[in-house]
Amino acid sequence: MRGGLTADEDVLRAYDGPVPEHVAVIMDGNGRWATQRDMLRIRGHHEGAESVRVTVECCRYLGVKSLTLYAFSSQNWGRPEDEVGGLMTLFDLYIKKERARLIANDIRLQVIGDRARLSEKLQRAVAQLEQDSSHNEEMLLQVAVSYGGREEIVRATREIAQEVAAGRLDPAAIDEATLEAHLYTAPGTDPDLVIRTSGEFRVSNFLLWQIAYAEFHVTPTLWPDFREPELLQAFREYGRRERRFGQTSAQLEVEA
Ligand code: FPP
Repeated sequence: MRGGLTADEDVLRAYDGPVPEHVAVIMDGNGRWATQRDMLRIRGHHEGAESVRVTVECCRYLGVKSLTLYAFSSQNWGRPEDEVGGLMTLFDLYIKKERARLIANDIRLQVIGDRARLSEKLQRAVAQLEQDSSHNEEMLLQVAVSYGGREEIVRATREIAQEVAAGRLDPAAIDEATLEAHLYTAPGTDPDLVIRTSGEFRVSNFLLWQIAYAEFHVTPTLWPDFREPELLQAFREYGRRERRFGQTSAQLEVEA
């Protein structure tokens, strides 16, 4: 890793377990982390940004090809104004601070979600880093901001309907690939593993289409405390799962 590792390299080097190709994370518990310490919620988000940095480093080091982080949902716009403003400032800061390191480590950044709701300044910063990292190939870092899974599917449906109305698409030709091509995540892969922190067993409108066959790992750890041991624990548990994609174990054995 160029730019120095903040994560514990000995721990990562010693790991010889499975590594999912695409990892997605619902980063939850920042507010509780701060409240438990009598701090403002935004402090929890700042600590959460440290966990983002470590997780990105670890995934890149271990060979994860895509990492998708749920940073701000469409519903999060309804939070108090100062928290929303603080989070937007934090995203801006992250782009400035991590830009060189992302590029040096061959990581491509992509923001998924309704970016038109972001400030023009943030939209410009995002677009610039997306452009500057567009040729990077080692890992795709997708950050979901102003993102909602239902909204994403509605948007895709609207675009498809427009193509049909314009006579460019035959409704009979619409299949899963058609819809997938209109998602924010196109032409990416589906997550193999979804990690959710803070012990909540909910999907919270995250990648509703894409997680159809993902494995889930829920940890009680709050996101600001999430570090390499928790990530490796999730990967080990993922390795113990039998992924059947609707088939039987016997069928999978024959195919292998
Ligand atoms: C959920 O915890 C977390 C968020 C809504 C924000 C996530 C943002 C970060 C981790 C900041 C940095 C991100 C990037 C990409 C730089 P919560 O506030 O709902 O926690 P609670 O359930 O304990 O209240």
